[in-house]
Amino acid sequence: MADIPEKAILILGDKQYELPVVVGTEGERAIDISKLRDQSGYITYDPSLSNTGVCKSSITFIDGEKGILRYRGIPIEQFVNYPSFVRVAWMLIFGRMPTSAELAQFSELLTRHELLHESARHQFQQIPVDAPPMAILSASLNNLSYYHQQFLAFEDTESFVEAAARLISKVRTIAAFAYRRSQGLPFNYPDPKLRYCENLLHMMFSLPHQQYICTPEVVDALNLVLVLHADHEQNCSTFTVRVVGSSKANLFASCSAGVSALWGPLHGGANVKVIEMLEEIHKGGMTPEECIAESKRKESKFRLFGFGHRVYKNFDPRSRIIRDACDRVFATLKHGDPLLDIARKLEELALKDQYFIDRNLYPNVDFYSGLLLRSMGIPTNMFTVIFSIGRLPGWIAHWKEQHDDPTSRILRPRQVYVGLPENRIEAALAQAEELRKVEQSPT
Ligand code: SDX
Repeated sequence: MADIPEKAILILGDKQYELPVVVGTEGERAIDISKLRDQSGYITYDPSLSNTGVCKSSITFIDGEKGILRYRGIPIEQFVNYPSFVRVAWMLIFGRMPTSAELAQFSELLTRHELLHESARHQFQQIPVDAPPMAILSASLNNLSYYHQQFLAFEDTESFVEAAARLISKVRTIAAFAYRRSQGLPFNYPDPKLRYCENLLHMMFSLPHQQYICTPEVVDALNLVLVLHADHEQNCSTFTVRVVGSSKANLFASCSAGVSALWGPLHGGANVKVIEMLEEIHKGGMTPEECIAESKRKESKFRLFGFGHRVYKNFDPRSRIIRDACDRVFATLKHGDPLLDIARKLEELALKDQYFIDRNLYPNVDFYSGLLLRSMGIPTNMFTVIFSIGRLPGWIAHWKEQHDDPTSRILRPRQVYVGLPENRIEAALAQAEELRKVEQSPT
């Protein structure tokens, strides 16, 4: 690459240090500081890690300035016409597109492992009906650690594949059971004749007297939503999975931690906040213009949810794909969704508002995803659960990439201490002693 220096020179006082430069396959440049503290006694300081690469990875590439997203080198747009979540999941985890035989073998594994242990099913009866489904999902993924203890520690690929298949298959059953519990409906067992997304929709929506009939449009839309959420390099929840996995914690526990991180409204929980925001406007609580104004107010905690991104300083390519999918799906339904019109109005206002322009704030994946899920009859409290199902292959792929890397070590950053200095400890101990005497003195 043109004029990329092979090293950086750091000058500290009368000393200077040479730091190697690492260059990625797409020209990304990083200064390797892995020996900085040993050489200079200094650490770097980057509290949000926005400027810090924590690993080398070949799973997903994002160019935030250009709005590019590629899974294993393939642009995300290539998956739009024939979205197959199971195929993309296999590709993310194993590094290339599967052959038909490999895909068939993996699908058979998913079918074989779609049931939960019966005592896990009975455990759902003890869960409060108003329990947040994300709490159920995080706990239930961790519970797999005691139902499948043979996978608590493994080194061989076959065990990994078995554990990954159990996770990707059972996450659907857990999600559907959580939904049925919240609706007071009897559980539906998975149907081995159904493919991945059809089975999830069946388990969620079939009634004792009426099998849920999947339309091709809804199945394609759900596959597309899961594909678009399948990985996104070092986002908060994926990095969480890497941190937990770096201690050699098992795959189930690591992905359970990923669910907890994804739950936050600044991350995967944003698609819920988007719908709440659109509904507030729809019922007249505020106008789109007032919503935009409130999201710009410094003192306000309110954000224009579904807008902005740590990496994308251009359109999130996923938001455009989902927006177009909304148009396609709503065209086949007999009814539109007034919230879609409101979303489009908000997007139009924000994209021409100087505040958003100056900060490179564009729609992200969450801005339209909730509307597409609503069109399938999926309730708001299940949105981030669906996001988790989609992201699970990405979490598994990153866990495996780190697990297979012989140079990987436990992730343990440093800090800059700003607490009591040594010359203040005496005063602190004296104050504590004073307090003890006061508390012990007769009142
Ligand atoms: C996901 O990382 C990933 O890849 C995540 C994800 C994935 O696939 O895993 O893409 C999924 O999490 C998408 C993001 C979903 N979250 C939201 O939609 C919540 C709303 N967005 C913001 O909270 C925010 O944009 C973040 C959290 C997404 C990014 O936060 P950053 O990078 O820390 O940006 P920031 O908070 O430093 O904001 C920079 C400026 C600030 O203003 P100033 O202090 O410069 O005046 O932009 C403003 C912010 O106030 N800003 C917003 C805004 N987002 C940023 N102002 C109003 N509305 C917003 N949405």
